Amino acid sequence: ATANIGVVGLAVMGSNLARNLASREGNTVAVHNRSRSKTDELLATHPEAGFVPAFSYEEFAASLQKPRAAIIMVKAGRPTDAVIDALVEVFEPGDIIVDGGNALFTDTIRREKAVRETGINFVGAGISGGEEGALLGPSIMPGGSDESWVTLGPILKSIAAVAEGEPCVTHIGHDGAGHFVKMVHNGIEYADMQLIAEAYDLIRRGTGKTPAEIADVFAEWNRGELESYLIEITAEVLRQVDASTGKPLVDVILDQAGAKGTGAWTVQTALSLGVPVSGIAEATFARSLSSHPEQREVSRELPGPAEGLTVEDADAFIEDVRLALYASKIVAYSQGFDEIRAGAAEYDWQIDLGAVSKIWRAGCIIRAQFLNRIADAYDETPDLAVLLTAPYFVEALGRAQGAWRRIVSTAAGAGIPAPAFSSSLSYYDGLRAERLPAALIQGQRDFFGAHTYKRIDKEGTFHTLWSGDRSEIEAEDTH
Ligand code: 6PG
Repeated sequence: ATANIGVVGLAVMGSNLARNLASREGNTVAVHNRSRSKTDELLATHPEAGFVPAFSYEEFAASLQKPRAAIIMVKAGRPTDAVIDALVEVFEPGDIIVDGGNALFTDTIRREKAVRETGINFVGAGISGGEEGALLGPSIMPGGSDESWVTLGPILKSIAAVAEGEPCVTHIGHDGAGHFVKMVHNGIEYADMQLIAEAYDLIRRGTGKTPAEIADVFAEWNRGELESYLIEITAEVLRQVDASTGKPLVDVILDQAGAKGTGAWTVQTALSLGVPVSGIAEATFARSLSSHPEQREVSRELPGPAEGLTVEDADAFIEDVRLALYASKIVAYSQGFDEIRAGAAEYDWQIDLGAVSKIWRAGCIIRAQFLNRIADAYDETPDLAVLLTAPYFVEALGRAQGAWRRIVSTAAGAGIPAPAFSSSLSYYDGLRAERLPAALIQGQRDFFGAHTYKRIDKEGTFHTLWSGDRSEIEAEDTH
């Protein structure tokens, strides 16, 4: 046995991760793929990596030093289960199986429980950064046991991206914690992308600037507080010219956004946990709306405002959009961290939110300057109830809110959809409100279903005899 780590599944992500591992001092990497040709191809194209090829699971196990550690990089779902089953057959107690795919965290919890019965460790690890990240340094979010972290920690640290001298990997928590955090990362990614798309749309419709000119705006924004990977690549996408038509590429791409499910999982999970991730939800729904051409077709003639958007001072408008984007982004992250906090409480994970923000500073898709501010906020107040109430964000929101309100009302007035901007603002105002109309909802619930209510002025649970003399009685709490 010569290898200290193995990779199963040699499609792009798997082979890039294997190459990354092999390039770091001290690692020897065993590789296995279901079809032999992928393994042969990887060995032929990267002889420098010194891979140890294995053409069966038995060979794979034999090539790994104990405790064995292997990272599975195959499609989420059944293919993952099949590889786990095969590895469990050839591995021994104390060995470690890592699922590096985008698995649903409840699947990870189930798998961890089943694999643990055999004495083998199972680790669900979220890996972000796409193909390039896998090769050059991703952000890694591993769950699983403390025992597995002893072996895995140094290996994962050796390949992770580095932010301000610190590797972008930390032991998130037990069983499904890593995949849970990766799921929320993707939800935030959806929100970030939707907010950027709304900003682009408003600028384009409001100022008539070309995509290439708007690329310059984003490139400029990338030098300030919005500095992030997604803003940077937005400029690149907007600048791209289509070779066959000579038009901006963004004008010839079909306007129907795809989704592989992680955004929807984030929202579904948030609904179950009762966490209002409204910005992430709107971003997910905006993709769904875009992907129903038949509904959009029959809706094209629906009445809209007589006037479109006319902007007098383009620079001032663009600055308003920038501030609206920044404020909405703060909301999206605040909601995402709220979901992680609620998930940790529900599933009994000890998740260090500051550490999560730190490992997102490099390597992953949502990497941004801004994550340093989140890390600062949790450093200062580890049990912060609402991230956006941290002093830095309060200042930023105070600076942005006027522009944010102008943009949301301008968009509504001009008939331009800005679902993530406007839902984020509503969330913000909902949190701020001294009294919410939830009191009326409680009254309605009590009226039709005797669901009871609480009072602001005394303890207890009450019901009004709506169909009787409308006097109030003390009641059993039925929520
Ligand atoms: C990452 C990405 C990655 C993947 C998304 C795309 O962190 O590296 O999030 O996991 O690109 O899952 O998701 P959609 O196809 O749903 O947009």
